[in-house]
Amino acid sequence: MSVTPPKLSQWKQQGKRIVALTAWDYAIAQILDRAGVDVILVGDSLAMVALGYDTTLPLTLEETLHHAKAVCRGVKDALVVVDLPFLTYQESPQQALHSAGRVLKETGAGGVKIEGGYPEMAQTVVRLVRAGIPVMGHVGLTPQSVRQVGYRQQGKTEADRDRILSEAIALECAGAFAIVLEHIPADFAATITSKLSIPTIGIGAGSHCDGQILVTHDLLGLSDKQPPFAKVYANLRQTITQAVDEYSREVRDRSF
Ligand code: KIV
Repeated sequence: MSVTPPKLSQWKQQGKRIVALTAWDYAIAQILDRAGVDVILVGDSLAMVALGYDTTLPLTLEETLHHAKAVCRGVKDALVVVDLPFLTYQESPQQALHSAGRVLKETGAGGVKIEGGYPEMAQTVVRLVRAGIPVMGHVGLTPQSVRQVGYRQQGKTEADRDRILSEAIALECAGAFAIVLEHIPADFAATITSKLSIPTIGIGAGSHCDGQILVTHDLLGLSDKQPPFAKVYANLRQTITQAVDEYSREVRDRSF
């Protein structure tokens, strides 16, 4: 991996934007890496988009490790970050250390991402960072809290903004190397970005973050439903359907 957590902070100082996307398998990881994507996230969106679960909650650490290993085999340069699944880190810093340690030891990834902020997660970040595990934070809409908050935009009230901003600051102070800001108003994401010295990576958070991330299946038009803030750059569902139709026709009329 030639992209490292300290490099991302340097890029923020230099005004260089961070390009991040998700991958869950070897082929996509290899394509993204060779295309020059900086950060490849083995996101727990894996649960819904690739494994067909209703939410990210059922995803297990074993499933995550299986996909993260495949991704790491395909990547040479990008920084691979792996989402810790629901309830594999919230119980205690010790539990988080055990799960994150397995990710780094067994997959070769360069860091982990955890959702939520102050105060419990900040303590967890301190524990992981002390053990040498780079941690990316994630505030705003945190899909692992879907049963509490749904998928609604966050940071709409002053109180909510105060909470999210203090979470982001607490994560930075705890040693996180970057923070994902999900589904919050663009002006608020710009404020958080200007107050932190570590980079922010936005998804549904406007264009003033230090980098952007999308779920690759959304970008490629492969998902059956996308969040409202996803930007679709290709229609691979249509391309695949056309190719399969053509193949089926040729098999059936004996021309192939
Ligand atoms: O699971 C995921 O894909 C994420 C997003 C930030 C892309 O966490």
